[in-house]
Amino acid sequence: MELDLGCEAAIRDPAGYFASARLGGDVQWSERHRAWVVLSHAGVSAAFRDHERLASDRVDTFERAARGRSEAFHRAVEMLHAWLNFRDPPAHTRLREPLAGAFTPRAVGGLEARIRAIVAERLDALAASEGAVDLSADFARPLPALVIAAVLGVDGEEREQFQAWSDDIAHLVFSLRPGGVAEEPVARAAAAFIAFFSRHIERVRAEPSDSLLSSIVHSPVGELEQIELIGLCTLLLFGGHETTTTLLINTLATLLERPALREWLREHAEADETAVEEFMRIGGPARTMPRKVRVDHERGGRLLRAGENVFLSIAAANHDPEVFARPGEIDLLRDPNPQLGFGWGLHYCLGANLARLEARIALRMLLERFPAMRPAGVIPPLRGDVMGFGRRPLPTRLR
Ligand code: HEM
Repeated sequence: MELDLGCEAAIRDPAGYFASARLGGDVQWSERHRAWVVLSHAGVSAAFRDHERLASDRVDTFERAARGRSEAFHRAVEMLHAWLNFRDPPAHTRLREPLAGAFTPRAVGGLEARIRAIVAERLDALAASEGAVDLSADFARPLPALVIAAVLGVDGEEREQFQAWSDDIAHLVFSLRPGGVAEEPVARAAAAFIAFFSRHIERVRAEPSDSLLSSIVHSPVGELEQIELIGLCTLLLFGGHETTTTLLINTLATLLERPALREWLREHAEADETAVEEFMRIGGPARTMPRKVRVDHERGGRLLRAGENVFLSIAAANHDPEVFARPGEIDLLRDPNPQLGFGWGLHYCLGANLARLEARIALRMLLERFPAMRPAGVIPPLRGDVMGFGRRPLPTRLR
C-alpha cells in the first residue's frame, strides 16, 4: 500500500489505517512524502532519542527558502534561528537553558490560579451569549493565547493581532516545502512580531517583573542577542497557543459527539489526568515530526542515507497495539499511557506540563458550568494533513 500520512483514512481511522500500513514494516520509504516513515511506538520513541543520527536542524532549509526574497522575509528566517525545536546541540542547548526552570511541574503548578481566572472569565462571556456558541472560536481559540500571554507577561488584549501573525508564520513553519511559501504574509508577520516583542523586551529591561519574558531577558545563563530573544518569545507565544487550541478543539468535538463519554467525564473529575492523556493520544495536535538523516545508518532493517528525510509518525505510534490495548477505542482511564504527542528525548515539549494543566482546567470548568452542553448542529468531521489537524467550528448549545 502507498503510505499517505495525510489521507482521509489515516485521519479518520488511524488504528485501522496504521495497522495495515505496518504490514509493510515499521520503517518504510514513502515515495509520496519523499521520506522514510517510522510507524511503531518503539521505533518512533527510539528515533526521538537518537539526535546523534537524526537531526532536527532546519535552519539551512529556511535559509534556502529565503534566497532572493525581501529583507523582511530574511528577518523571519533569522527569528527561526532561535526556535530551538529546529536546532541541534550546541545551539539547542544554549537556547533551551534560559527556559529550563520556567516550565517545571512546580513552576507550572504555580500558574493554576491564573489559568482558572482566565477560564472563568471566558465562561462568563459564554454564559452571557444568547443562543448557540461556537466552542472553537469562542473558547478553544482564545483561551491558550490568553494563558501564554499572561505567562509571558504581554498584553492579552493584543491576542487577536498576535494570533493572526502566528497563523501567517505557521505557513512557513509547518511547510514541508518552505521555498514555495508566499512572501508577503510571512514578512508582514515577522515585522509585526519584531516590533511587538522589541517593545515588551525594552519594557522589562527597564523594569524587571515576575513574568517569563523578564526571566528570559534577565537570565543569568548566557547572553542572547536581541533577535534571538525575539525569536524565542515568538516560539513560546506560537507553541503556547496553536497546539493547545487544536487539542481543545479535537477533545471538545469528541465530547460533543459522544454524550455518554461527556456525561461520564463530567461525573468523574478524578479521571481528568488520564482523560487528557488519552485525548492527546487520539487527537494530539502534532501528527508527524520531521527529521533529517545525519549519517548513514540502519533503522528497522532499512538503510537510511545521510541527507534523507525521516517522518516520525506520532499518530501511528499512538495507535500501536504493541503498546496500547484496543488502540481504536477511547479509554479515559488508560494507565499507563505512554503517548508520544509531546515528542520525547532532547526536544521533549517544554510546554507539556502547561498544556496538560490548561486542558484539565478548561474541560473540568466547562463541563461543570454547563452540564447540559450539547451540539447545536452538525460537528464537521476531523480534517487534517501530514503534520497535524485543522480547525473546525463546534456549534454548541450550553443550556
Ligand atoms: C497540546 C499542546 C502541545 C503539543 C501537542 C506540543 C507538541 C510538541 C512536540 C511534539 C514537540 C517536539 C518537537 C520535536 O521533537 O521536534 C514540542 C516541542 C516544544 N514545545 Fe510543545 N506542544 C504543546 C504545547 C506547548 C506549549 C503550551 C508551549 C509553550 C509554553 C510549547 C513549547 C514548546 C517548545 C519551546 C518546544 C521545543 C523544545 C525543544 O526543542 O527542546 N509547547 N511540542
